[in-house]
Amino acid sequence: MGTSPDVGQLMAMLLKLVDARKTIEIGVFTGYSLLLTALSIPDDGKITAIDPSRESYEIGLPIIRKAGVEHKINFIESKALPVLDKLLEDMRKKGVSTLLLLMLTSPIT
Ligand SMILES: C[S@@+](CC[C@H](N)C(=O)[O-])C[C@H]1O[C@@H](n2cnc3c(N)ncnc32)[C@H](O)[C@@H]1O
Repeated sequence: MGTSPDVGQLMAMLLKLVDARKTIEIGVFTGYSLLLTALSIPDDGKITAIDPSRESYEIGLPIIRKAGVEHKINFIESKALPVLDKLLEDMRKKGVSTLLLLMLTSPIT
């Protein structure tokens, strides 16, 4: 787990305040913040979740399934940059703009 419970509550509140429907999570680990996000967005919301370790994601997956939110998650086993390049390209084609807020302790690769 990387997100502390109090930061998790703040995240959940912000997601609801801005009525987030499509989110990107970089660095999933066992999925604590992913579960929080999935529980905070609407039932038809989508999360693109990126992490090079599927093994870590699968540790938390039974809890995500039990919470009934797996359908909101598109897990991509990869480092973030190649996936973000592709997502940006798709967004440019569709004329979509967005705001990405990152809180990192190390550079994205
Ligand atoms: C601190 S954990 C994430 C914790 C999670 N967000 C939470 O709050 O429960 C960091 C994760 O970043 C992943 N990671 C490391 N390098 C990455 C990269 N280049 N792209 C995407 N994820 C990466 C690691 O595999 C690890 O699972």
